[in-house]
Amino acid sequence: MSQANPFSRTANRRDFLRWLAASPLLATLPGCTPRAASPGSNSRTPAPVPTPIPPAPITPRPSLDDLVTTAADALDVFDMEKVAETTMPAAHFGYIQTGVDGEETQRNNRNGLESIHIRARRLVDVSRLDTRVTLFGREWPTPIVIAPCGSQKGFHPEGELATARAAQAATHLQALSTVSSTAVEEVNEARGEPVWYQLYATSNWEVTRAVVERVRAAGCPVIVLTVDLPAGSNRLTLQRWTRIDDRTCNSCHRPRGRAPTVKPMFQGTPYRPGDFRTPAMTWDFIGRLREITDQRIVVKGLMTHEDATLALEHGADGIWVSNHGGRSEGSGQATIDALPEIAAVVSGQVPIIVDGGFRRGSDIFKGIARGADAVAVGRPYLWGLGAFGQPGVERVLEILRNELALTMRLAGTPSLASIGETSIGTD
Ligand SMILES: Cc1cc2nc3c(=O)[nH]c(=O)nc-3n(C[C@H](O)[C@H](O)[C@H](O)COP(=O)(O)O)c2cc1C
Repeated sequence: MSQANPFSRTANRRDFLRWLAASPLLATLPGCTPRAASPGSNSRTPAPVPTPIPPAPITPRPSLDDLVTTAADALDVFDMEKVAETTMPAAHFGYIQTGVDGEETQRNNRNGLESIHIRARRLVDVSRLDTRVTLFGREWPTPIVIAPCGSQKGFHPEGELATARAAQAATHLQALSTVSSTAVEEVNEARGEPVWYQLYATSNWEVTRAVVERVRAAGCPVIVLTVDLPAGSNRLTLQRWTRIDDRTCNSCHRPRGRAPTVKPMFQGTPYRPGDFRTPAMTWDFIGRLREITDQRIVVKGLMTHEDATLALEHGADGIWVSNHGGRSEGSGQATIDALPEIAAVVSGQVPIIVDGGFRRGSDIFKGIARGADAVAVGRPYLWGLGAFGQPGVERVLEILRNELALTMRLAGTPSLASIGETSIGTD
């Protein structure tokens, strides 16, 4: 004998109709007044009317995005990105996010990292971790570096000072941009020691000389010479975000045709806006710099072993593998993929820093595995800055340090030195 399936649609519908027929609700519907039973028409006693169960009150479920209301709530750097998008002026957020062209290079920085997997080893004593790295005789507790990024007061009123204080709180190496919205002397004071200084050369040598002399006098031990932006870049995302936010801002998206305020590091020099492009600059520039300063010179923006070799031949003290976070050329080449050929020719002669798309501790691990001594981040700490100021930057750095430590433990690599080519693989 077949039994009615209590979960069948027919059984459910039958139960529902029974409940509806007995419900006072039916009486409120037009044309649905229950008929009074005529005497004798139905000898059965009417069924007792059940009390309908009131519907449960609807409490809207909080959106996951609403859960990050303090810096400490962020679980990864992408949580910061979501908050920064809501707290920052649109054009300024667009300035952070932009790559060039269709953003292929920026995406490939991430794709390159995500196509690498970690080869986790087991039963290694990872009770003590060593994440120290020594660069030019100075030991840092972590290989995570703050990349030079300009105009930080456009992201938070405290700008580079908030970043410097966050860097100091956990002793991160910080590089300050030439186009910072705060002067190097103030940043050094907030950082508690001189930062590395990123130099954009100008086509006017007297401007460059004045800037270098100033940062040398300020005690900055290293000049990071950026060479990947000689003649502008095609930043379409920035242009789109700027169209929806045309407020006046002297530090970046000034109204068309109006001259920007001169950046603090160019003040007191003969700088003119056109000086910023350096299409005629060649490798000899390193030698010229050498003549006016004894600071270490790290060349930032290299993507090929040929250029790494030239940099060494011209006396560079360090190499920074970078495509400006996909904001300079639209080569499509990921920095993590450029790293091995550069590490091969450098072969430990000088330190290597890499940046571009590093968003998790596991990414930093992969950079170290492919031959970098240190890994720099740009957008992640800017998201933290835009979202919550100094606590946001501190939290981003803390997240990355924690993730790196956990990755090292799970991969069975107790020190940076133990992370090598065999720690990773590709599909
Ligand atoms: C908003 C912004 C401003 C930047 N400004 C500079 C700069 O002034 N000088 C420089 O050498 N690089 C600059 N960069 C590039 C960074 O130093 C770094 O190479 C890049 O951000 C790393 O990629 P990531 O953002 O994916 O981490 C900037 C990047 C961003 C996002």
